[in-house]
Amino acid sequence: MRILFTGGSGKAGRHAVAHLLQKGHRVLNVDLQPLTLEGVDNRIADITDAGQMFDVMSSYAGFDELEPGTGVPRFDAVVHFAAVPRILLKSDNECFRINTIGTYNVIDAALKFGVRKIIFASSETTYGVCFADGLRKPDYLPLDEKHPTVPEDSYAMSKVVNEATAQCFQRRSGADIYGLRINNVMEPDDYARLFPGFMKDPSVRRRNFFAYIDARDLGHLVDRCLHVNGLGFEIFNAANDTHSVDRTTAQLVDEYYSDVPMTREMDRYETFYTNIKAKALLGFDPQHDWRTILGKNL
Ligand SMILES: NC(=O)c1ccc[n+]([C@@H]2O[C@H](COP(=O)([O-])OP(=O)(O)OC[C@H]3O[C@@H](n4cnc5c(N)ncnc54)[C@H](O)[C@@H]3O)[C@@H](O)[C@H]2O)c1
Repeated sequence: MRILFTGGSGKAGRHAVAHLLQKGHRVLNVDLQPLTLEGVDNRIADITDAGQMFDVMSSYAGFDELEPGTGVPRFDAVVHFAAVPRILLKSDNECFRINTIGTYNVIDAALKFGVRKIIFASSETTYGVCFADGLRKPDYLPLDEKHPTVPEDSYAMSKVVNEATAQCFQRRSGADIYGLRINNVMEPDDYARLFPGFMKDPSVRRRNFFAYIDARDLGHLVDRCLHVNGLGFEIFNAANDTHSVDRTTAQLVDEYYSDVPMTREMDRYETFYTNIKAKALLGFDPQHDWRTILGKNL
């Protein structure tokens, strides 16, 4: 497929783009900075500028596309990751403005140029626990996509707005628009760098529901979204099968969630941030488990 990918130069995007290239897709990365990766085309453009989004959406991806003499091809899909990726990076209002206006512009331009598949990055933070002031617990566990989205911070608020924006666009267009509520992204180097700290003190993972998503598995999930058509508007939790700490799930329940209703029994190391919907509807099959990567046999 010919794919326009926003934010492909970032932490999550560069792995997702690499995965999509490996799968044989052509990718035009639209970002404020280029991604240096063989085979990827780059365009420097700002998602908050509607004119620039309309331009890139109707643009050649590279010089080779001039050769057939048949005009600019249409993108088969848009993957939208560009954002301010958390609070405390920019002012709260800038975070909200860039993320919400940017998402409106990307989806609007994509649909007006006939794109019928759009995948966008939402966030685990929409559930309200991650950036809460003080301790907040989920209403129930395991946490699925039906759980209320009740954030109190500008970043997660922007992602809730983006989900509503995307759903409204889907209603009018009938296109497939899938949102990924991405959990904390881990790059390959992060396992050796960060996980020893998680083993020492699992409580540092509480705000992420103790979950994580490997950046390469996130690339695989995006590819699955590209393949599965006809779902309309859907939201998917994006997480690996197991949680990120050196405890069993039952031990974590005893220690952190003894007062939280459990809707079912859970497996020994099963993630609280359930990915069952992505597995069932998209064929998501994550491969990068930190226990295997670090050789930790519990
Ligand atoms: N990293 C995580 O743990 C995590 C968790 C949940 C959701 N997400 C979401 O996943 C997506 C990717 O996150 P990331 O960690 O790779 O973030 P990142 O900051 O590493 O990458 C974001 C990219 O977007 C680009 N960008 C920012 N503003 C832009 C603009 N106005 N126009 C064009 N490009 C712009 C940046 O240059 C950067 O390359 C984001 O939407 C983020 O909110 C990330």
